[in-house]
Amino acid sequence: MKVFITGGAGFIGSQMAEKFLKRGDSVTCFDNLILGKKEFLKNCGSLVATGATFQFIQEDLLNLDRVIAAMKGHDLVVHLAANSDISQGVEKSDVDLKNGTIATFNTLEAMRKSGVRDILFASTSAIYGEASVKPTPENYGPLIPISFYGASKLGCEGLVSAFAHNCGLRAVTFRFANIVGPRSTHGAIHDFTERLLKDPKVLKVLGNGTQAKSYLHVEDCIEGMLHALDRVLLPAAGPDFYECFNLASLGVSNVKFLAETVAREFSKARGIPVPVLEFGESSRGWVGDVAYTWLDGSRFEKHGWKARLESGAAVERAVREIISEKLA
Ligand SMILES: NC(=O)c1ccc[n+]([C@@H]2O[C@H](COP(=O)([O-])OP(=O)(O)OC[C@H]3O[C@@H](n4cnc5c(N)ncnc54)[C@H](O)[C@@H]3O)[C@@H](O)[C@H]2O)c1
Repeated sequence: MKVFITGGAGFIGSQMAEKFLKRGDSVTCFDNLILGKKEFLKNCGSLVATGATFQFIQEDLLNLDRVIAAMKGHDLVVHLAANSDISQGVEKSDVDLKNGTIATFNTLEAMRKSGVRDILFASTSAIYGEASVKPTPENYGPLIPISFYGASKLGCEGLVSAFAHNCGLRAVTFRFANIVGPRSTHGAIHDFTERLLKDPKVLKVLGNGTQAKSYLHVEDCIEGMLHALDRVLLPAAGPDFYECFNLASLGVSNVKFLAETVAREFSKARGIPVPVLEFGESSRGWVGDVAYTWLDGSRFEKHGWKARLESGAAVERAVREIISEKLA
């Protein structure tokens, strides 16, 4: 299979590329490197199976003609490119419109024009906004996102579904929990570790630590997407297939647990006393942050998939991985 990964030099995309290459597939990573890093792709060349290929294209999805030309001849699109840093939308109100909504339209339009039929799309729990039902199932509504990022992803989901029904594409949308693991470039674990590198004695936490989310390890995220590809999308009969799953682990973890885990593991790794934690007053992290998300993963579980690590275990593993990366 020839796989075209948008955002292929990012945190999830680069690890997804390695996974497909290990399965013997050919992979094209398409990324403009605004958030991704070329060094994340350094293992890919050595993973190419006999008869398969790997290529990296540094290009912007906003350039439709280049996307169409690059996508020709592929069998599957894994659409991961986006502005993944939600807090950026506060300062730049058009960043999610461009790198989310328009980039997604161009990806789908390029599929239509180049005859690629199948797509896996990375959406987010942020589309639910501050949902009153927890854990939140896929059929929850009304959907009232509170960030530009969530609004953009909700629009993207609509585009994916409309292209599937109008142009014969086959699509699975995943509403991801918070994904954690090596190569992450932002998020609470990343921020806490960066703060401790600057001041190893005190860890200042934005908010009062009660904000809680579902965390999923990146390895489980990738396994989940491939499970849906193999068991749901590829066996689907006929064109215009559309399905949507929450992709999450069991349980939630709060910011206090994340901060304590980072402080403990950082002190172990450095051989220094455990840093003192200082919390703020607010129950919210930043404008647009949903303080409490908990996804109901039972729809996807009915297809035989379950995350190996529950939320707390995913956090603990990711903290160790991120600290060892940063101290290397
Ligand atoms: N990491 C999470 O916790 C999480 C949670 C929910 C959803 N998601 C979604 O999963 C996907 C992957 O996230 P990630 O954490 O790997 O983020 P990431 O920032 O590491 O990867 C996104 C990649 O897209 C690229 N990109 C952005 N705009 C582009 C454009 N216009 N043209 C070409 N490339 C462009 C960036 O350079 C980056 O490499 C994103 O769509 C994100 O919204 C992530």
